[in-house]
Amino acid sequence: MIAFIIGASGLVGSHCLSVFKNNGWDVIGTHLNFKTDSTVSFDFSKEDLDDFFQKSNFKPDVIIHCAALTNVDFCENNVEASYEGTVLPTIKIVDYCERNNVKLAFISTDYVFDGKNGPYHEDEMVNPLNIYGKHKLACEDLVSKLDQHLILRITNVYGEEGRSKNFIARLIDDANNKVVKELKLPYDQFATPIYAGDIGRMTFQLIKDNKKGIFHLASTDYFNRFQLAKKVLSYFKDTEAIKISPIKTSNAKQAALRPLYGGLLNTKFIEEYPDFTFENVDSFMLKVTKHEL
Ligand SMILES: NC(=O)c1ccc[n+]([C@@H]2O[C@H](COP(=O)([O-])OP(=O)(O)OC[C@H]3O[C@@H](n4cnc5c(N)ncnc54)[C@H](OP(=O)(O)O)[C@@H]3O)[C@@H](O)[C@H]2O)c1
Repeated sequence: MIAFIIGASGLVGSHCLSVFKNNGWDVIGTHLNFKTDSTVSFDFSKEDLDDFFQKSNFKPDVIIHCAALTNVDFCENNVEASYEGTVLPTIKIVDYCERNNVKLAFISTDYVFDGKNGPYHEDEMVNPLNIYGKHKLACEDLVSKLDQHLILRITNVYGEEGRSKNFIARLIDDANNKVVKELKLPYDQFATPIYAGDIGRMTFQLIKDNKKGIFHLASTDYFNRFQLAKKVLSYFKDTEAIKISPIKTSNAKQAALRPLYGGLLNTKFIEEYPDFTFENVDSFMLKVTKHEL
């Protein structure tokens, strides 16, 4: 089988790339600005998928669409750029998949919900609070028109990545390097952190088994940001350089509204795959401290 992973230089896409390759699939993964040894350059705001596949002599069975503008506050302040970076490319990708009968897996978010009563099941009512969530939901609507589609919602992703830019990876780097910093972290924004490697494995399983529709990909953790940082730092001996304090979201001066009781429930996935084993923040941190990752 042949897969095309858009955004394979990013956190989620890079783990998907490894899992699909390790399972013997032919894969092309793409980067935009962050070149890697295992990805090729592709800019969906300028390049056409038909041309790209013709030039590369590659015809995928499935496209895994992991690219978006992911800075939620930037999106709030730059609505047009958010639309151009998230919705417009998805229109083109859906069009390509429809014309060529290609399966599409789209990575979405718990920000499609308003965070009044999360964590959420797949069939609960969506009501995004911010531009990022609205644009991801617009993409979900486009993708869901395809017969062969998967919408995989995730939140609070962590794991090893080239740029160490996710919240936990940055905290680990800062703790290792004894960086002096003070972090004010919302104690009233809850979500379900998930390991990027598990997203790769879950995505592979669902695609391999020809599943369709929406799936929530989550593990067993449910934390607010302050608790999450405390847990990560508890795995280091000397963390005096990093001071963390709890802050109320309404005092955090974030441009975009956040779902407060967000997060996702994975019961639909577990019903299908009862033996699937998940990482959680503790098991991940144990591996980090033992240098097993
Ligand atoms: N991380 C999370 O906690 C989280 C939570 C909920 C949902 N999601 C969703 O999960 C998906 C992946 O997120 P992520 O954290 O892996 O993001 P990421 O690390 O920022 O990766 C985004 C990827 O998209 C590529 N990209 C951006 N603009 C592009 C363009 N114009 N043309 C082609 N490629 C482009 C980037 O390329 P370069 O880096 O090479 O420039 C990168 O490979 C996104 O759809 C995001 O909305 C993530």
